[in-house]
Amino acid sequence: MPAKGQMKKETKKQVKRALKKPTSHKKQILQSPKGMHDILPGGMLVREKLYKSVKAIFEFYGFNRIETPILEMEELFTKTVGENTDIVEKEMYAIKGRGGQRLVMRPEMTASIVRSYLEHGLHRQSQPQYLYYIGPAFRHENPQAGRYRQFWQVGAEIIGGEGDPVYDAQIILIFYKLLEELKVKNITVGINSIGGAVDRQNYKKKLLEHYKDHTKEICKNCVRRMKTNPLRMLDCKNKVCRGVIEEAPIILDNLSTPSKTHFKGVLEFLDEANIPYILRPRLVRGLDYYNKTVFEIFTGEGEDSQLALVAGGRYDYLAETLGKRSTAGVGAAMGVERVLEVLEEQNPAFGTVRSKKSIYFAHVGQLAKLKSLPLLEKLRQANLPIISNLGKKSLSNQLESASKTDATLALIFGQKEVYEDNIIIRDMKTGSQETVSLEKIVKAVKKKLK
Ligand code: HAM
Repeated sequence: MPAKGQMKKETKKQVKRALKKPTSHKKQILQSPKGMHDILPGGMLVREKLYKSVKAIFEFYGFNRIETPILEMEELFTKTVGENTDIVEKEMYAIKGRGGQRLVMRPEMTASIVRSYLEHGLHRQSQPQYLYYIGPAFRHENPQAGRYRQFWQVGAEIIGGEGDPVYDAQIILIFYKLLEELKVKNITVGINSIGGAVDRQNYKKKLLEHYKDHTKEICKNCVRRMKTNPLRMLDCKNKVCRGVIEEAPIILDNLSTPSKTHFKGVLEFLDEANIPYILRPRLVRGLDYYNKTVFEIFTGEGEDSQLALVAGGRYDYLAETLGKRSTAGVGAAMGVERVLEVLEEQNPAFGTVRSKKSIYFAHVGQLAKLKSLPLLEKLRQANLPIISNLGKKSLSNQLESASKTDATLALIFGQKEVYEDNIIIRDMKTGSQETVSLEKIVKAVKKKLK
C-alpha cells in the first residue's frame, strides 16, 4: 500500500495529465452536423441585408410575417407533401415525442402555414390572407453546393378567397422583383400547369399508357413511380429515362377548359407586368400538394442540372387534405443559401457589409471605465450608433479598433474628462478634436453626424 504522501503525489500527476491539452488538439473540436452550418456575425449582416429587401417588397404588397414551430406532427407532411415523395420517404428528421407521437423537423413551411391558417381561424378574417416567413427547414439530403440539411427559406403564401390567376402572377412577380433588386443576373421563370385533380387523373392514365410500352427503357425508380407517383417520372434526372420522357404526352394538351383559362390568365398577367417566362411542359415539382400553376425561378437558362432559386405553385386542395373545406392557395419559397451563393459570383459587392455603427467610444483609465456604463446608456437612449469595448485598456488599442470600423467619430473619455464633466469628440478622418460638456454631448454628436 503506498504511503499517504505518495498517493497525494500520484493524484496530482493524474490531474495534470487529465488537464494536458491533447497533441492533436484540432481534431478534438466538435463540428456542426454534416450539411448544417453556423452563420457567423459577418454572414448575419449579409442575410439581414437580404431580409431588408424581402421585407420592403413583401410588405408593400400586403404580406404579413408569420412564424410556425420547427417541429410539426409527421402526419402534416405525409398528408400534404405526399407519402411517396422523396421529402417524406427519405428526407425527414423524425423525433419520437414522450407520448409516442411522431414529430418531424419541418422539411418545408407551406403545410405548416396552411395548418396555422386553419387552426387559428384566419379563414374568418379578410380573404385572402397574405403571409410571408423567413426560417430554417430540414431535409436529410446528400450535402453539396446549394443543397444542405438545414437551409433557410423565404416564403410567401396567398391563402383563401378566390383562386384568381392574378395571385399566381403576384407571387411570381414579388420573387422576380426580389431577385432583380438583389442584382441576380439572367433570371428565368419556368412555368407549367398540372391542372386540377380530374385533369391529372386523366393525364396519369395517358402517361401510364405511354410508359407501359417502355418499362425496359426506364430506371428502377421510375418503374416504382409508375405505381406510386407517375407524374414524378417526368421529373426524373436519370439519363436512361430521357427518351421516354421526351415522347411522353404533354399535360398542357390535356387540361380541362377551366384549368386552361386559369393558366392563360396567369400568363396574361405576367405579360402585362413584363415578367419573362418559359413554358416548361414537363415541370411537375416534387411535392404532391400542387394543382394548376407550378413554377421555378433560375439564374441562367434553367437547365435540368441547375438548382432552382425559387419554386412554388398553386395548392387549392391542401386544406382539404387536412380535413377542411377546399381553400384556394398559391405561394413560393426561395432558398437563401442558393441565392447568396449566386450573389457571391454575380454581385460580390452584396457580401461586403460592415456594421453601420459610426461612433467609437473609447475610455482611458479605471475611473472613466467606471463612469462609462451610465454614459453609454445615455447615448443608447439618444439612439446614437455606438461601438465600445470597455475591456480594452490602452487608448491606442481602442483607436486602432476604431480605425477598423466604419466609425467617423470617436468619443474619448478619460480621467480629466470625468473630473471636468466633459468628453472629447475626435473626427476619425481629419484627426481634429473638440471637447464638449457631457450635458451637450448628444446634441454635439448629432450635429457632427449630419
Ligand atoms: P421546394 O422546391 O422544396 O419547395 O423548395 C423551395 C426552395 O428552397 C428551392 O427552390 C431551393 O431554393 C430551396 N431548397 C430546397 N431544398 C434545399 C436544400 N436541401 N438546400 C438548400 N436549399 C434548398 C417548397 O419548399 C415549397 N414549400 C415552396 C412553396 C411555397 N410552394 C408553395 N408555397
